Amino acid sequence: MTPRTPRFIQTVQSDSREERAAAIAGLLRTPAQASPKFFYDRLGSHLFDAITELPEYYPTRTEAAIFAAHGAEMARLIGSGASFVDLGAGSCAKAARLFPLLEPSLYVAVDISADYLQDALRRLQREHPALQMVGVGMDFSRSPALPAGALAGASGRPVFFYPGSSIGNFTPQEAAAFLAGIRAQAAGGGLLIGVDLVKPAAVLEAAYDDALGVTAAFNLNLLRNLNRSAGTDFEPRDWRHEALFNSAESRIEMHLAARQALTVRWDGGERAFHAGERLHTENSYKYGVASFTELLRRAGFRASRCWTSDDNWFAVFWAEA
Ligand code: AVJ
Repeated sequence: MTPRTPRFIQTVQSDSREERAAAIAGLLRTPAQASPKFFYDRLGSHLFDAITELPEYYPTRTEAAIFAAHGAEMARLIGSGASFVDLGAGSCAKAARLFPLLEPSLYVAVDISADYLQDALRRLQREHPALQMVGVGMDFSRSPALPAGALAGASGRPVFFYPGSSIGNFTPQEAAAFLAGIRAQAAGGGLLIGVDLVKPAAVLEAAYDDALGVTAAFNLNLLRNLNRSAGTDFEPRDWRHEALFNSAESRIEMHLAARQALTVRWDGGERAFHAGERLHTENSYKYGVASFTELLRRAGFRASRCWTSDDNWFAVFWAEA
């Protein structure tokens, strides 16, 4: 038998004018802002993987403990043979750990970091030669609508997988719309999603400002990616990483603060920053079980089940579409 190879669909256009215009518009706002999607070039994806190994960054291992404890029960609810769609697949490691339990008939891995995804998926295909795999290089930050053909030939019911609490990058209102977009594609199946929960600010802030400075490097790397994507001339050395919990909004905020007064330039424009002025790079919203259950209901899901870690720091929901 000739080994299967993953099929790839590429919709990311990292040099599109529209993306550049949106990035520049964000820089010109007050306060200046940049989309967290610019974290994830190949280096950024590796830095994120390093973050998940940090002692301070509890979400990844806490979520993994929930899957280890309750994965079998989840699999019974979900059923085997699904078309398993992994949003923000990255290294594909989380989904791969569920393959023995879920026994999907198709694995669709979606990520904005297309090069990194291709490497990961080719490796995974060698470990699972019989499983049909599709890679989709796509920016789904505006809409989770899959490109035509991503599920071509799929026979199983659609099960979306959105782990890691990446839903926290959206405002609750954006999240409701995004979840509704998933529900619209998941009829007959559902959504398995990881959600980070509210906890003491000191725990949250340490998770986003670790002792080794890996999260600082991850945040600063956004500037290199912006330089490449938007043609700016950011100098990462001129910026300092900041992370704080905004309890009124129930979100961690990451910023980059200018170390001194400086001007960022690009073809056709510039933006002056005074010393200490910030560029807002990420929100990571934290939910309660009740508030997220309500969000799923608002997005049109019929019913949901929830499993939490013993410390109540993280939750995994199964929502039926
Ligand atoms: C990938 C969005 C879930 O918000 O915890 C990690 C990204 N940012 N450290 C998160 C992140 C800083 C992460 N998500």
